[in-house]
Amino acid sequence: MERRLKPAPTDYRMCPLSSVVEQRNRKPHTSVRFWQGALAMAGGAVLLLVLMITFEKVSKIYPGNSVALQDLTLTIDAGEFVSIVGQSGVGKTTLVKLLIAEERASAGSIVVGGWDITHIRASEVPLLRRQIGVVFQDYKLLPKKSVWENVAFALEVSGAPRERIAAIVPQVIKIVGLEDKLHRYPRQLSGGEQQRVSIARALVHRPKVLVADEPTGNLDALNSQEIIELLKRINAFGTTIILVTHNRGVVNTLKKRVITMEGGTIAHDQKIGKYVL
Ligand SMILES: Nc1ncnc2c1ncn2[C@@H]1O[C@H](COP(=O)(O)OP(=O)(O)O)[C@@H](O)[C@H]1O
Ligand SMILES: [Mg+2]
Repeated sequence: MERRLKPAPTDYRMCPLSSVVEQRNRKPHTSVRFWQGALAMAGGAVLLLVLMITFEKVSKIYPGNSVALQDLTLTIDAGEFVSIVGQSGVGKTTLVKLLIAEERASAGSIVVGGWDITHIRASEVPLLRRQIGVVFQDYKLLPKKSVWENVAFALEVSGAPRERIAAIVPQVIKIVGLEDKLHRYPRQLSGGEQQRVSIARALVHRPKVLVADEPTGNLDALNSQEIIELLKRINAFGTTIILVTHNRGVVNTLKKRVITMEGGTIAHDQKIGKYVL
C-alpha cells in the first residue's frame, strides 16, 4: 500500500523554515504569535519524524547498458546534512535524479517519508517535488525573468493563487538575502547571487528536503562559503540537506556526515566525515 506524504500546510508562516526569516527580523511576540509558533514547532517535529529517505538495493542501468548505480543501499534521516562526494561518473547525479523522480530505478526501491516512489506515476511527480527542492550547478534561472519573477514562476506553475505568491516570494528572497535585488535579471547578478535565487526558488513549497547537485561548482571560494552557510542555516531549521560536492574544503569544514561513492555504490559512509579521495 502506498502512503502519501501530507501536502504542505497552506500557511507558509506555520513552518519551521519561516524561523530563518524570523532570525533576521525578530519582532515582539504576542500571545497569538506564541501559540502559532508552538503549534508550528509541534507540526514541524511531527513532519520531521516522518521524512526519512531510503534507497534499498537500488540499481540504475541507462540504455546502452550504462551502469550508473549498482545495489546501492542508503538511509538519510529527517533533518540530516549529508554530503555526497565521489569522482566524476560514480553516479551522484543519478542518485539525485532518482530521488526527484527525473529517472526511474532499474531495480530496488526508493521510499521518501513512507511513500514508495520507485514506480511513481508522472502525475504524482509534482507532489514529490514539493517535498524535495532541487538546486543545480548551473542555477537554471530564466534569463528574461527578474529575481522576483523567477521565484514567483515556481509557484505560478503549480497553480498557487496570487495572494499566496505575494506572501511567499518575499519570504524566501529574504531567507537568501536578496531583498535589495528583486528586480534584477540573472545577467545582472554574480554567480553566488544567481545560486541564491535558485535556492529561494527551491524553497517556495517549503520542502522538507533540499538537494543540491554541485551548487558551488561554478563559484569562487568566498561565494561557495556563503552558499554553504545558507544551506547550514536552512538545515538548522529542520530541512534535510543533501549536498553533492567536489569541494574538499567545504566538506572538511562542515564536520557532518559524508557519503563517498565509487562505481555506482557507497564506498564509505562516515558520521563526521572528511573528503578522502
Ligand atoms: N542518460 C544517460 N545515458 C547513459 N548513461 C548515462 C546517462 N546519465 C549518466 N550516465 C552514465 O552513468 C554514470 C553515472 O553518471 P552520473 O550519475 O552523472 O555521475 P556523477 O554525477 O557522479 O558524475 C556515468 O558513467 C555516466 O556516463
Ligand atoms: Mg554529477
